[in-house]
Amino acid sequence: MRLGLLGLGHVGCGVVQLLETQSEAIALRLGEPLEVGRVLVRDPAKPRPVKVNPDLLTTDPSAVLADPAIDVVVEVMGGVEPTGAYIRQALQHGKSVVTANKEIMADQGRDLLALAQEQGVDLLFEGSVGGAIPILRALLDSLTGSRVTRILGIVNGTTNFILTQMAEEGQDFAEALAEAQRLGYAETDPTADVEGHDAARKLAILSSLAFSTDVRSGDVLARGITAITSDDLAYARRHGLACKLIAQAEDQGGFVAAQVAPAFVDARHPLARVKGAFNAIYVYGDGLGESMFYGLGAGGVPTGSAVLGDVLQAARNRRSRVAFSRPLPSRGLAVRSAREAVSRFYVRLETETHASAAADLRRLLLQHGVTLSSFLDQPGQNRGQARFTLVTNPCTLGALEDALQAALSLPWVRAVGALVQMLDLQAGDLAVELPPTVQVEERRMLGRLDVAGPGEGGW
Ligand code: NAP
Ligand code: HSE
Repeated sequence: MRLGLLGLGHVGCGVVQLLETQSEAIALRLGEPLEVGRVLVRDPAKPRPVKVNPDLLTTDPSAVLADPAIDVVVEVMGGVEPTGAYIRQALQHGKSVVTANKEIMADQGRDLLALAQEQGVDLLFEGSVGGAIPILRALLDSLTGSRVTRILGIVNGTTNFILTQMAEEGQDFAEALAEAQRLGYAETDPTADVEGHDAARKLAILSSLAFSTDVRSGDVLARGITAITSDDLAYARRHGLACKLIAQAEDQGGFVAAQVAPAFVDARHPLARVKGAFNAIYVYGDGLGESMFYGLGAGGVPTGSAVLGDVLQAARNRRSRVAFSRPLPSRGLAVRSAREAVSRFYVRLETETHASAAADLRRLLLQHGVTLSSFLDQPGQNRGQARFTLVTNPCTLGALEDALQAALSLPWVRAVGALVQMLDLQAGDLAVELPPTVQVEERRMLGRLDVAGPGEGGW
């Protein structure tokens, strides 16, 4: 079996590294060796952390896509074009395709899967969500005996790494982002990570699979973590909370609601203990109850592991002359705006000092139907400035956003800082206390993976 690689960056090198270290086990599982036949790159002269025969490197896409000796094409170059066209060409040439490209799979996945079926080949994409975590195969196969009603979790490693570094190491945002880039977690343009678009793409894929309906990335309301400061994280810590970028989608009977947003969760909750580049995805359903999928969600080698798993599946299928890929079914559910979702929210407002500021802000919020459970008035960063830290009673995100928009038109309001959902995770819904056996298992895993254990307060 021969692989053609499109891209030899973080994930491509992860695949090559695993192919080398696992070659015997792979040959045993597959019944024949798996070799790299050709590799498309932009710059063949670039130094790489893995050894690849320089004769295999090419800048000509057709050397991979049209080579009859190549059975499976692995797309790990990223971006939408020309990448989408390359995937189509590979499928049209009768090759199975494995991709880790969430941008493409979120919005073109249905068409590409239909093309794969037409061609009688596979299009597999496990690496596109959750890095090494086998969540997509689970949703497509193992969990189909249940009706999935809700998905909730952490699906972006870069932002989880940044929030962890800021909260626990005192790093600032830019420093932590630079480190995430160095470690190979971030997208080529990290705006997609920090503004929540990468998580929105993953949530679109998860929702489409989980709810058997068509959810695109544009259907997911996405807010990222760029406005979160160390002051917000200190507030969270003082109140026994942790800040996480949470992706959540729900089948609300007749329609789906999906959003990605920063949220404060109880610091004792398992999601609060998901650190660094780890991801965790809860799946709820009739029948399955509550399941949590946890593992390394970003990085070349963990993602390479998921990609290679798909490659083996595609290669085995070719040997058996079968293909698994099918167009995704769609119940055609409408997508409801996340602005209608009701929650409590934390808001930080930066203002100039103004005599009636507190009363004016309360009145303005009330005019939009937003009442407060907590209101803190502090001096701002500089002389003549003030900071208001508010926690609302349950209200719609839409009402709060409208109120904050109106507040911004007041001459003494400088900026709306953080807007964070207070995610009230219910016991029985998401159990705050894990059963003792799970605690032991989690502690063992965290110890083995050398990830920081629980903070003050213990398990
Ligand atoms: P990367 O490190 O930037 O690597 C991209 C590779 O593609 C490079 O080898 C580059 O060639 C090549 N390439 C890009 N555009 C090309 C073009 N037009 N023609 C030829 N070659 C081209 O990216 P990555 O982090 O490996 O990510 C790759 C894909 O995996 C993306 O879709 C990403 O979203 C997805 N993904 C990444 C991770 C992760 O943790 N990094 C996890 C899951 C999924 P040169 O090396 O010569 O420049
Ligand atoms: N940039 C992505 C992340 C890579 O940080 O989660 C994994 O998909």
